[in-house]
This record gives sequence, C-alpha cells and structure tokens, in this order.
Amino acid sequence: MVSSTTIEQIRKKIVQKNSNLQKKLQNRLVNISQITNSFGETLTRIDGEIPIDLETKNNDRFLFISYEQTRYTHGIHKYPAKFFPELPRWLIKKYSKENNIILDPFGGSGTTSIESLLNKRNSVSVDIDPFAQFVAKVKTTKLDNEELEIYTNLLIEKITKFKITSKLNKFIPDFPYRDNWFNKEIIYELAYIKKSITELDLSQELKNFFLITFSSIIRAVSNADNNCTRTVIRKKLNKQIYPSLALTKFVENLLLYKSRIKEFNRYYPINNFVEITTDSDARDLKYGSEYFDFAITSPPYINAVDYPRTHQLEIYWLEIENGSLTPLKRKHIGTESVIIKDYRNLHLIGINEADKIMKSIYKIDKRRAYIVYRFFTDMEKSIQEVNRTLKKDCRYAIVIGNNTIRGHNLENWKYLMEIASRNGFIVEKYFGSEIIKHFIKIKRNERINTDWVIILRKK
Ligand SMILES: C[S@@+](CC[C@H](N)C(=O)[O-])C[C@H]1O[C@@H](n2cnc3c(N)ncnc32)[C@H](O)[C@@H]1O
Repeated sequence: MVSSTTIEQIRKKIVQKNSNLQKKLQNRLVNISQITNSFGETLTRIDGEIPIDLETKNNDRFLFISYEQTRYTHGIHKYPAKFFPELPRWLIKKYSKENNIILDPFGGSGTTSIESLLNKRNSVSVDIDPFAQFVAKVKTTKLDNEELEIYTNLLIEKITKFKITSKLNKFIPDFPYRDNWFNKEIIYELAYIKKSITELDLSQELKNFFLITFSSIIRAVSNADNNCTRTVIRKKLNKQIYPSLALTKFVENLLLYKSRIKEFNRYYPINNFVEITTDSDARDLKYGSEYFDFAITSPPYINAVDYPRTHQLEIYWLEIENGSLTPLKRKHIGTESVIIKDYRNLHLIGINEADKIMKSIYKIDKRRAYIVYRFFTDMEKSIQEVNRTLKKDCRYAIVIGNNTIRGHNLENWKYLMEIASRNGFIVEKYFGSEIIKHFIKIKRNERINTDWVIILRKK
C-alpha cells in the first residue's frame, strides 16, 4: 500500500530535487580553464553552456561539464549513450538558423529534437528502434498543463487504492523468464499501474507520457542490475525489492517528470515542427534530396550496446514486441546478430588502417571481423544518405568514440572521416570531447574516454 503520507513525502522530495537543480543552474558560470588529465594531456575544460564562438582547432581536446542532463524533458527515462544537451545545443546554434530543418539519423531518445525545439528549429529524428521512437515522441510532445495536472492527481489517487484482484491478470504480459525477472508482488503492482493508465479516458499524448513514466521504473523494480546496458540479474548485488516499491517509484517519477514537462512546455515554440519517424532507417531516409540544413548525430558503437536487450523488459511490458527480439536486433547498426555464411570470408572496407586491423581480427575471430566490416559498410550507407538529403555547403556533425575489438583499438572517428571524404563531404574540423556521466560504461581502453566530434561539410 502507498499511503497519503508517503505521497506527501514524495511530493516534498521532488520539490527539493527541483530546487536543487534550479540552484545548480543559477550558480553555474561559464568557466573556461586549461587542465591536465591523468595521461598528462592538456584539455580545455568548459563548465556549463558552450560559448557559440568557442575556438576549436583540429586535435583540440575538451572536457565539457554538463549541468542540464535532467533539465526539461532530457531527464525523462534512461537511455544508453545519450548526448549531453549542451553539445548538440552548441552545434545547432553554430551551424543552423531559426526555422531550419535539422536531422538526427540515429536520434535515440530525442536529445537533438528537444534542443532543436528549444532553439526554434524544426527537426527529424530517425531511429530504427520502436522503443527509442516511443521515448523520443513523448519527450518532444507538448502536453496541456491543466490536463497533465488533473490526470496526474487522478492517477496518484488510484495508486493509493492498489489491490490484487483477478482483473489484473489481463494486464500481465507473457514473456520469457518473466517470473525470474520480477517478484510476484511487483508484477501485480506493475499490472495495476498499467491498468490504471489504460483505463483513463484521456488524450493519447498524455497516455503515452504516463506509459513512458511507467516504463522508466521497470528496470529499477526488476531483479536485474539497474546500471548495466545488458539486462542481467547479478546475485551478488543483493538488490532490495520490497512490496509497494513499484507504486512509490511510479509516483516519484510521475511527479518529477510532470515538473520537467511543464518547464519544457514553457519554452515550446509555436511555429516549429518535430518528426519522430517510424518508417526510416539511417541507411534509407525517406526524405528527398537537399531537404535538411544541418545534421548531427552520435551513431551506435560496434558491438557495444545491444539496444533491444537493454530495453527488453520495458519492451515486453509496453507490449511493443512479445516474441523474439532477434529480428529487431538484426536491423541495428553495430549488431552482433550476424549469420555464419556471411562471415566465412574476409571482407574489407578499403581503408588501410581499418583493413589491417580487420585482417588481424579475422585470424582469431572471423565473426567479429565481419561485425566490424558490417558496421563500417552500414555507416557508409548512412553517410551517403545524409549527404543526399543535406543541402549543399551544409554541415554534418558526428560524435563518436573508439572501441576495442579482440584487443584491437579501432579509431572509428578516423575511418568515418575517410568514409565521409569519399562520399561527398569535406572534413572541416575534428576535436575531442571527454565523456562524462554516461548511463553505460562501454569497455574502452586508455584514450577511449574521449568522443570525437567531426564536422563535415557537403561539397
Ligand atoms: C548512441 S545512440 C543515440 C543516442 C541519442 N544521441 C540520444 O541522445 O538519445 C544510437 C542510436 O542508433 C540507433 N540505431 C541503430 N541502428 C540504426 C539504424 N539502422 N537506423 C537508425 N537508427 C539506428 C539505436 O537504436 C540507438 O538509439
């Protein structure tokens, strides 16, 4: 049970959380300083908003400190390898004008589109994954404040009346190992929340917001590790799950997200559009030539995050899928789901350094060599598509890190620059950005703490 006293305590906690964020934002100063990292390298540290005229030279390295990862709707739902908002904001302002159309071909949870809206730009966010599309849609949709307030309170009231009845059974999805992933009482609590949302008579937009809030607590109340991109149970974590956890977490996130949506609503532009596509793949954009004014993205990593597996419990509870996730995995660039007949032979991409590495990997692991090859050929297709749909002389900013495959360090950004150069782009600039506070910890070696920002210009 969740009592009204507990609800009051949660309300107070959220007010405190919001006031802490406001204080943090008020106290932030744009501060630029030179620092030396643990490898003796010099970096420029930038706290807060990135100045639009910040001077960048090739090979410069920056450490950006973000203050806004949870501001507006950015903080709604976890998503692996999200942009920190100050980066796309800076590049959007630098390389586009108000009312321009911006593309993110690997849009994920929609950070680029949120920042486009906040800066009065139109945007298109493409992502192959229906779960990402759903999150991005909710995070970029304006809701009616009054309706939001009324139904949030109604929903909270319902939550306080939780009871296990046979009526809940039809809201419990059937999926592999469900009863290992969740304790019995939690399953009923989740079903009760889902039933309560489903039965409300309200706009689809608001219902979707409640469903994403519901989704946001699923990992935390499951028996799986909260902080791993793979959904796995780790016995040694001794995770504490107790009755009413799902109900209280839901109320907490609901109140928190409601306040973030309201802040976002205040800045929502009147005349700009946002499209979260449901039929596009980065390798096949459903847009005509020369449509976009600027593109920005952070593509997936090779073999690093298995997005469908990360969100499998959420996908099942939201009933986005109910069977095997393998067909969805196969559509993902960087996927590990490849078939034997494809990787028997060695394939190369025509870039010396990368080909040398692929040959070495092939000697010890044919499958992984093929995964690397597939990644770069898929990325080449997507770069060609961005080139086709971008206006002449417009920029494409790609943010990508390196990774290690079978002991070999792949400098992805360098190979992508070569690929871009042979597909109608001029490399204008490249500089490093240290990663801070990502949801995931990708296995990386020494230099891999750095993402690289590549600025391309269409010829
Ligand atoms: C690093 S994430 C992007 C995160 C995003 N910048 C954000 O802030 O949320 C990469 C995204 O690429 C998507 N993706 C993988 N293959 C794709 C494809 N073929 N077409 C479009 N998106 C794809 C994944 O679903 C994932 O959401």
